[in-house]
Amino acid sequence: MIGVYDSGVGGLSVWRELVKLMPDEDYVYFSDAAYCPYGPKDPSFIVERACAVTDFFLEKGCSLIVVACNTATAAAISYLRAHYTIPFVGMEPAIKPAILHSRSGVVGVLATAGTFKGKLYLNTLARFSGDVKVIERVGEGLVETVEKGILDGPEVEALVHRCIDPMLEAGADHIVLGCTHYPFLQPVIERLAGPAVTVVNPAPAVARQARRLLGKKEPSQKEGSTEFNSSSKDISILLRLASL
Ligand code: DGL
Repeated sequence: MIGVYDSGVGGLSVWRELVKLMPDEDYVYFSDAAYCPYGPKDPSFIVERACAVTDFFLEKGCSLIVVACNTATAAAISYLRAHYTIPFVGMEPAIKPAILHSRSGVVGVLATAGTFKGKLYLNTLARFSGDVKVIERVGEGLVETVEKGILDGPEVEALVHRCIDPMLEAGADHIVLGCTHYPFLQPVIERLAGPAVTVVNPAPAVARQARRLLGKKEPSQKEGSTEFNSSSKDISILLRLASL
């Protein structure tokens, strides 16, 4: 069984890639919606929540945990790896491929405040940015709108414009989605950014990393399953987005 964890519905963007790649596996999804958003919260609080969710997955019998949340990865993955023996897969900030493929020399990164402050992001940026200009924007309001199940329309367009316009004005040719909620807005982001901009979603690479860790090759004929859990009572939007 594979545990998949996010502050809310965002981790579904990783879960759906896992299911595509390993449809024969059984998954337990945990949305920590009662405490969402994680972005502005103190890292020590996120570590506490990540431990509580890990204990929940262990009770369920999981053998691998995917921290499908950039903010929780930034705050808690080193702590989790040091205190539990179960393997964890975290979110990698996908700035490296964007920087390597940029022709304009300008790359935009959309993430939460917590992710931008994390060592993982700062180290990756220092190692790979070189001459490339990296424009960071906190996706203000984006997590909240996805949590409400609102994925398009004028309200979403206004929020996305505010985030990506400074990147486009500076000549960015790649926009990295550094939060797992944002792939739900990828069609709007791509539409507003235009065809010259590549939007990078790291979820497929994270799913491949999980498969590598499990040592799996081809899926078997068995049909897998997913159990959805949340720290909030209402899971209707979680189920709706899972069915997209
Ligand atoms: N989905 C999350 C991430 O990847 C967390 C967003 C939030 O709770 O602020 O960062």
